[in-house]
Amino acid sequence: MPPIDWHVLGPGAIGSLFAWYLADAGLQVRLLTRHAGESARLITLEHQGHLDKGHHDTRAFHVDHHDTPIQRLLVTVKAHQTETALHAIAHRITADTLILFLQNGMGAWQVAERLFPDSPCILGTTTEGAWRAADHHIVHAGRGETWIGSLQSRWQPQAVSVVRQWQHTLFHPHHDDNILARLWRKLAINCAINPLTVLYDCRNGELLDKPTALVQMKAICAEVEEVMAAVLGVPASMPLLELACDVARKTGANQSSMLQDYRRGQPTEIDFITGYLVQEARRLGLDVPENAAVLSAVRQMTQ
Ligand code: PAF
Repeated sequence: MPPIDWHVLGPGAIGSLFAWYLADAGLQVRLLTRHAGESARLITLEHQGHLDKGHHDTRAFHVDHHDTPIQRLLVTVKAHQTETALHAIAHRITADTLILFLQNGMGAWQVAERLFPDSPCILGTTTEGAWRAADHHIVHAGRGETWIGSLQSRWQPQAVSVVRQWQHTLFHPHHDDNILARLWRKLAINCAINPLTVLYDCRNGELLDKPTALVQMKAICAEVEEVMAAVLGVPASMPLLELACDVARKTGANQSSMLQDYRRGQPTEIDFITGYLVQEARRLGLDVPENAAVLSAVRQMTQ
């Protein structure tokens, strides 16, 4: 049997999408799921917003419950599930296991750095749009960009090797040796949009029609810009409010990932989005009252 190239931990929308296209490019992919009895999973991918619009494809994946070491691990579980999910497979992670985090929010990778300090840990961010229409039915809603890098210079060669391996996939990712700045840009957009879609219970684009939501978004963006500039040491290249409004417009019909979790009654990623921002602000001695208020409002609604 050929060696397994990638194990995907958390085959939700993004995990299934990546599993799908890695397998499509001929890589050997296995899924890691919570269901002990599950040995295979059929994933249906529905194409929207790019070539083959409306086309459905179904592909079978093995679910791996073995105890053998894992060579490359793609972590796509929700940020708050990371610790439990990694603990469950800790016996399969060695100093040679490459761990790539591709999640919304910031900071979940710190679990891996603590549990597996010798394993190469790299980070990615993607704007590929995917959502779950039903169990194991994923809609690829729009094309985006994928960037991969490492916070530690010692693991940059591993990040580059993944970028090279994935050149043959649909994603054509790029390497970024300043992945932190890119992750912060994504975090900033998520801070500006996601919690407000929960508070107003609306789609991304509808925020732009609500004067009070816009006032809050403006205040959130000003605070995030200040924290971001302090963390990265450079001011933002473009006003965040403008960027956030642009993303809200372009993804106008979408329910944000946080709103989807909220509507399904599932825990949200608020602690790894606004919560992370507020924590970083405190560390730096900065005041972020609007973000702190939004954080506690969303926590109250989702507890
Ligand atoms: O988390 C999300 O939903 C997305 O990152 C974004 C950009 C807000 C679009 O819905």
